[in-house]
Amino acid sequence: MVKKDNFLWGVATSAFQLEGSPYADWASWDSMLDSNPDVTHHYTLYKDDLRLLNELGVNAYRFSIEWSRIQPKENIWDEEAIAHYQDIIDILVRNNIEPLVTIHHFTHPLWFIKKFPWHKDNSIEKFVGFAEKIIGRLKGVRYWITFNEPYVLLLGGYLEGCMPPGVKDVSLAVKALKNILICHGKVYDMIHSADPHAMVSVAHNMAALAPWRRWNPMDRLLSGIAKYFYNHSLLDAFLTGRLYLKFPFRKPLEISVPIKDKLDFFGVNYYTRVHMRFNPFKKMGVELRHRDIDGYGLTDMGWEIHPYGLEKVLRYASKMNVPLIITENGIATHNDRKKIRFMKRHVDVIEKCIKNGVDVRGYFYWSLIDNYEWLQGLDARFGLYKVDFDTLERKPTKAATYYSYLIKSRAF
Ligand code: FCB
Repeated sequence: MVKKDNFLWGVATSAFQLEGSPYADWASWDSMLDSNPDVTHHYTLYKDDLRLLNELGVNAYRFSIEWSRIQPKENIWDEEAIAHYQDIIDILVRNNIEPLVTIHHFTHPLWFIKKFPWHKDNSIEKFVGFAEKIIGRLKGVRYWITFNEPYVLLLGGYLEGCMPPGVKDVSLAVKALKNILICHGKVYDMIHSADPHAMVSVAHNMAALAPWRRWNPMDRLLSGIAKYFYNHSLLDAFLTGRLYLKFPFRKPLEISVPIKDKLDFFGVNYYTRVHMRFNPFKKMGVELRHRDIDGYGLTDMGWEIHPYGLEKVLRYASKMNVPLIITENGIATHNDRKKIRFMKRHVDVIEKCIKNGVDVRGYFYWSLIDNYEWLQGLDARFGLYKVDFDTLERKPTKAATYYSYLIKSRAF
């Protein structure tokens, strides 16, 4: 395994976004996948794709296990699928690449989301059963991420309704969040009883949030509430075991969640800044916008490029007193030079933070190759390698060469 004090230079992916899965909730959720169910065909081409990691010179790789492949039906465990993910780990370890395994990255088996969606209490037993299986079986993993972006899952699946299970209900969202955090606590303990040296976290999406009109008190109030809810409340829950939730125009809620100190590092996913303004005609009175304020431009997905926001969220996250790892940061663009500038500016920010004493231990660029982006499909080009979705050819972008250079030239 990779030396403990090495900075982790990696790339991040998720299983479904690379390989699809016929048994996953998302497969039937997005009809765009009907014509391209295997996405990049990574499930069969994984050995070739893992070779790209050597080409890049990374010493870490974050990927996820597709639950619906491991447990396609409620009482069926697919041994071949377990062996498949073990093979990925073995290849990484043989190549001195530290695996970071995400147990849950947005997707679920269809049977789970239909019968045991997160707002039902029996979801806990089902998820923990799956986690127990893979933690018991997969060998060679020290870094685990229990949940990728639990708040994005909640916002998409339970408030906006744009992700499975497609619910729009605040009180069910709160129940679901509580159950997910209970699962984190249980899985954390389970991993630690198997390996006391394991490093366990969630990957939390943190955004730079700002008022659209600085002079407007309502915009300032809303962005303050949003910042607390979206970025900070989860951190406080890890520090105190209490989750304090405040939504605009609703009574605040405080619930206890058994996750106090159940964190060995903190995974931060950072992409962009969002401006917020009060608009009484919008849901909860909030309107969100991306603006190109600093002249760094917008990505192909319209997200503002705002490297300084990474410094802000890292500084804030450093109050957790555990090492920080940027578990995702990347840009959707067809323009290689823009991708390179994005990467350089964000890595510069990390360097500055480290110099100023923030304990950052790793950086994972999203993503290794182009893949399926949840709400945008195949057009969002995050990859260091460009994928031709017809021929399945992978071609390095100039950003891939640049990332290799960056890894060699920065001594963190
Ligand atoms: C993050 C998700 C990841 C990917 C990037 C672009 O929020 O964790 O799966 O879609 O956005």
